[in-house]
Amino acid sequence: MLEDTSFAIHPGGQQKLTSSGYKPVGPLQSYQLAGNVFRGKTDRGELAIVFYRDDIVRIEMNPFGEAQLLHSPAIAAEANQVLYRPEDTGETITLSSQKLSVSIQKQPLLITVMDQNGRILVQETKKGMAYKETKEVICYKNMKEDEHFYGFGEKTGFLDKRGEKMVMWNSDVYAPHNPETDSLYESIPFFTTLSKAGAHGIFFDNTFKTTFDLRSEEDSYSFASEGGAINYYVFAGPTLKQVLEQYTHLTGKSPIPPKWALGYHQSRYSYETEQEVRELVKMFKEKNIPLDVVHLDIHYMDGYRVFTFDPNRFPNPKQLIQDLKAEGIHVVPIVDPGVKEDPEYHIYQQGVREDLFCKYIEGSIYFGEVWPGNSAFPDFTSEKARKWWGDNHQFYSDLGIEGIWNDMNEPAVFNETKTMDLKVMHENDGDPKTHRELHNVYGLLMGKATYEGLKTKLNGKRPFLLTRAGYSGVQRYAAVWTGDNRSFWEHLQMSLPMVMNLGMSGIPFAGPDVGGFAYDSNGELLTRWTQVGALTPFFRNHSAIGFLRQEPWSFGKKYEEVIRKYIQLRYQWLPQLYTLFKEAHDTGVPIMRPLVLEYPEDENTYNLYDQFMIGDNVVVAPILKPSDEYRVVYLPKGDWYDYWTGEKLAGGTRHLIQVPLDTLPIYVLAGTAIAHGPVRMSTEEKETERTVHIYYQAESEYTFKMYEDDGSTFDYENGSFIDYSFTIEQDETSVNISAQKQGNYQPDWERFELKFHGLPENIRVSINGEVLQARKHGLYQINL
Ligand code: GLC
Repeated sequence: MLEDTSFAIHPGGQQKLTSSGYKPVGPLQSYQLAGNVFRGKTDRGELAIVFYRDDIVRIEMNPFGEAQLLHSPAIAAEANQVLYRPEDTGETITLSSQKLSVSIQKQPLLITVMDQNGRILVQETKKGMAYKETKEVICYKNMKEDEHFYGFGEKTGFLDKRGEKMVMWNSDVYAPHNPETDSLYESIPFFTTLSKAGAHGIFFDNTFKTTFDLRSEEDSYSFASEGGAINYYVFAGPTLKQVLEQYTHLTGKSPIPPKWALGYHQSRYSYETEQEVRELVKMFKEKNIPLDVVHLDIHYMDGYRVFTFDPNRFPNPKQLIQDLKAEGIHVVPIVDPGVKEDPEYHIYQQGVREDLFCKYIEGSIYFGEVWPGNSAFPDFTSEKARKWWGDNHQFYSDLGIEGIWNDMNEPAVFNETKTMDLKVMHENDGDPKTHRELHNVYGLLMGKATYEGLKTKLNGKRPFLLTRAGYSGVQRYAAVWTGDNRSFWEHLQMSLPMVMNLGMSGIPFAGPDVGGFAYDSNGELLTRWTQVGALTPFFRNHSAIGFLRQEPWSFGKKYEEVIRKYIQLRYQWLPQLYTLFKEAHDTGVPIMRPLVLEYPEDENTYNLYDQFMIGDNVVVAPILKPSDEYRVVYLPKGDWYDYWTGEKLAGGTRHLIQVPLDTLPIYVLAGTAIAHGPVRMSTEEKETERTVHIYYQAESEYTFKMYEDDGSTFDYENGSFIDYSFTIEQDETSVNISAQKQGNYQPDWERFELKFHGLPENIRVSINGEVLQARKHGLYQINL
C-alpha cells in the first residue's frame, strides 16, 4: 500500500492548517433547580450539574438541545438525591457539597471545580466548552506544569501520559503495537492527574469516538468527541487511591474471581484436538508444572460456529472436561460474537427468528466477514438479545465449563474499517442509536450478557470471563488481556505500563499474552516474561498459529527449569494475590501498582515504567532486555529486603543489581509482611499450610491483612469468609502482634506459621500478649 511508503509524506498531501472551527457554547442565560439537578441555559443548549456523591460531580453540556443526563452502560451508581443550594453572586454561581464546589462563571461561561480547601481541581481555559455544527464537541482545561496523567486504559507508551494524544475507538490491531499505535481493543475515557496539590480524576462518559489531547498545548489539554454531549464526571481525590475508589464507585468494582482463574493458564491458537489437549495436560503433570486452565481457541468449534464443538476434533467434550477437572484443570473456550450465516445452524436460526441481530434502520441484518465467514452479530444493546446470548451458555455449563473467553468483540470485522458498518442501528432497549455512537460499548455489553448468563447457569459458583474489548465498567464482568502482542522484548517492556495503567483505570484483573502472541518466541524471552507473569494479575501463556510453540518446555531444559520455578512461585504467592484481589473488589485499588500509587510524593516514581509493585509493600524489577544480567532498580524510601537473599538494601536510591536468568528481583519493604502458601499442581489441590513472612525492622508498625474464603462460590456475600488483621509492632527487643479475625469461614490449612526475616537473636515475639516459643530461630507455629 502506498501509505506504507514515503509517499505518505508527499508534499502535495500536506493539508493546510485551519482554525479548529469550534464555536463557544456562549454565556449562561438563566438557570433553575430541577430536583437534585442544576440546569442552566446557554446561547446554545443546556448545562446540567448533579452530584453522585459528595466527592463525585457530573457536568453535562449539550450544545444541541437539552442536557439529557442519559447513562452509558458504564454507570453503576445512582445520583445523590440531595440538592446543593446554589450561591449566586451575580457573576458566578457556586454549588457546594461537603467535598467539592463547582463554580459557574456566567459570562463567558467557565466552570471551575475546587475542593473544600479551595484547591482548584479542574479549570476551563478561555476556550471553555465548544461545538461544531457537524456535532463535534470539545472541552479545554488548564494543565498545571507539575501535573502527571495516569489511566486511559489500554495504551502503548510509557506510564505518565502527559504529552500524549489518545483516541478511544475499540480496534482490532494485529499489526505490531508500537508507540504510535493509538486505539487498541479497550476504550477507557478516564484518567487521574497528580500534582503537588494532590490528585483528582475525570471520566468523559461519551461513547462516540473520543480524543484526549495532552500534547498540542503546553498549558492546557482537551477532550473531544465526534458526537453526543460534553458529559464528564470529576472525582475529588485528593489521593490517587481515593480517585480509584470514587471512579469504581461510579462504574463498579471487580468481582472476586474464582481462585482457579488466578492460577497459571496455558493457551495456543489452537490446541486443535481432544488428543492434543490431553497430551498437553499430561506433559504438565510429567514435568511437575502447575496448571489451572487450558484455553480452547477457535478450532474447537464446528466450522467456527459458537456454542458447538467439532464432532471430529472433540468427539466427547463432556468427558474431556470432566477428566481435566478431576486433575484440577478448568477449560475456557473462546466465544466470539460473529454468528455464522447458516440457515441450518440453530443459533443463527434463533437470532434471525427472534430478531436479535444487529440491523440497518431499513430492516436488513448486517453481515460481516469473521472466522466463520459471513456472519451476523447479536445486538447486545438489547436486553432481549443479552438474555438470549446469556441463556445459550447453558451449552457450556452443561459440559462443566465455568469460564469463557470473549474475543473479536470490538467488534472486529475483516474489512477496510475493521469493524461493523457505522450506519447499523442498534436497538438499545428502545432508544435506537447508530453503531457510530455505540461501537465502544459493544464489547462491554457482550461481557455483561456473558457474565450474567453464565452466573445464572453456575448455581452459585463464580464465573470467569476474559475479554479483549471493553469500555469503562468492564471490570464488573471480566478480566482483560491486552490482545495480539508479539514475541518482542519491546512488547514485554510495554506490557508493564499498559497493565499498570489498566489498573489505574479501574481494571485490576489484566495481563498480556506471556511469551508474546504473534512472531516466534525464544527461551530467554519466554523465561523473563514468565517471571513477570508470575506476579501479574492475569497469567496466561498464549501464542499464534504459524509461529513456534511456546509451552514452558519448548526451548529446552535450561529454560524449562526456570519457567517451572516461576509458575510454582505464582502458587506460593496466591494467598497474597488473593487478598489483593479482595482489596481491589472493595476499593478499586489494583493488585499490580505503579510505584507512584504508593509513593505519590516521590518524583522518581512519576514515570517509572519498568518496575511495579504488588500491593503496598513489594517492588518487582524484572529484566526486560536480552542477554542482560544487570539493571538499575529504584527503591523508594524505607529499607528493603531482597526476597531471595534476605539482604537489606537502602531505599530512596538506585542500586545496580545483577540478575542471572533464574532470578526475578523482588524486594519487600522492611517492617511489613506477605502471605505465602505451598506449591501446588493446581488451585484445586488442598492448601495445607499458610505462612506469613514478616520482615524485621526495628521501630516499625504495619497492619497486615489476609483474606480467605472458599474461592469458588458467592457465599462470602453471606458472611462465609475470614479476614485477618495483624498489627505488627517491632522494636529493638520485641515484636508484638495484635491479631484479629472477622468472619467464620474455616480455612483449609492445617499449619499456620510466622516466619521472620532479618530477626536479630533474643527478640521476644508475642501475639495478643502471649509470648511465642520459636521452633527454630525466627519460625513460629501459631493457632488462630
Ligand atoms: C485473535 C485473538 C487471539 C486469538 C485469535 C484466534 O487474534 O486476539 O488471541 O488467538 O484471534 O481466535
